Amino acid sequence: MKRPMNLTDLRRRFPRDFVWGVATSAFQIEGAARAEGKGLSIWDEFCRVPGAIADGSNGDVACDHYHRLDSDLDLIAHLGVRAYRFSISWPRIQPSGSGAINEAGLAFYERLVDGLLARNIQPYATLYHWDLPAELQRRHGGWRARETAERFADYAQLVAARLGDRIVSIATHNEPWVTAVLGHERGIFAPGVRDRRVAYQVAHHVLVSHGLALQAIRATNSQAEVGIVLNMSPVYPETDSALDAEHARLEDGRLVRWYMDAPAARPGDAELIAQPLDFVGVNYYSPTVFSSSANAALPASSGAAVTDMGWEVAPQSLAALLLRLDRDYLLPPVFITENGAAYQDDVVGGRVDDEQRRQYIESHLVAVADVIELGVDVRGYFVWSLMDNFEWAEGYRKRFGIVHVDYPTQRRTLKSSALWYQALLAIPA
Ligand code: FCB
Repeated sequence: MKRPMNLTDLRRRFPRDFVWGVATSAFQIEGAARAEGKGLSIWDEFCRVPGAIADGSNGDVACDHYHRLDSDLDLIAHLGVRAYRFSISWPRIQPSGSGAINEAGLAFYERLVDGLLARNIQPYATLYHWDLPAELQRRHGGWRARETAERFADYAQLVAARLGDRIVSIATHNEPWVTAVLGHERGIFAPGVRDRRVAYQVAHHVLVSHGLALQAIRATNSQAEVGIVLNMSPVYPETDSALDAEHARLEDGRLVRWYMDAPAARPGDAELIAQPLDFVGVNYYSPTVFSSSANAALPASSGAAVTDMGWEVAPQSLAALLLRLDRDYLLPPVFITENGAAYQDDVVGGRVDDEQRRQYIESHLVAVADVIELGVDVRGYFVWSLMDNFEWAEGYRKRFGIVHVDYPTQRRTLKSSALWYQALLAIPA
């Protein structure tokens, strides 16, 4: 087994002010699905569809973070990270997606933000990590209607006006490709629609909502930097046939260029969408290999190391992606807003030895250091995830945390990857 690198050597490859963090999202950890006036989200409803979630579970309790906020904040502080990326549940603060505000919900995020600041941790917020108010879905089909983009801008303004003086960074959307393709083309994520034409309309409306939200946030007194978080990976053709190459190029268009190039639908949309960003967040897990015969992304080829998701471990693809983005675009500062791996972990004698996850994180940090040294402006790295949580259609079976969660008792146990990350961050910069 590969020995850990010298921690000091690794740490010294990053700039002094590099942002080290961990990431989560609201629906995956908060639970408290109906607490204190929260409205239901499309994920609350999707979990009720028979067969939608692999283990038949839902987000009603999840990591019970809503009720364990203070001890979870202590846990984050204990890791020694200086930044925490979380998402805000829209239906928790605006139960029907428009109009009335649920003060108790907003108060929760005020406690979260103030609790982070009190512990000297910078808040990085995401406004939309997939939990659309169910009422907007019912009323006009959610993102298929442009009206949802307008409601999103109202919500963004509300959050920025209340929290924007204390939040360091606001991302409008997390992974709009997932909202469009997994939610509306393949239908394996909420709201479970299977219609490619709708998916393209959704992809456009999500970008419009991003543009409207940027304007709305910048019209407040918010000090936060604003941007968007995209899931991207290199798309490789399965073979070197011209057909496979063409299909991979098309898929790259759907995954990367659609969001980076920002196409338009109504006059003025291009300008609206393509306003300058203060940052772009990149979520990266594995490369995509595309085949024309299957017209689909393939599972990792046999022999490749894969995680418990079946995702190929390929840190060099992260470097390739970042170099390509830097070459093809005038990039704003980049944050790796998610990177990490699922493995089956067991608590043995109070310890969790997750050497594979530690190696995964280490090798991807090396890739980030490599591209920083080549001049790419990467400012920060967030491990996905702080703790095991509700992994969408997979339910609780897949564990991404550097902290183990025993769901029946809600006991948190630092895995060896967390202890390693903590030791890395403890080294003076
Ligand atoms: C990303 C999501 C995140 C988590 C990881 C594994 O696509 O943003 O919520 O599920 O994948």
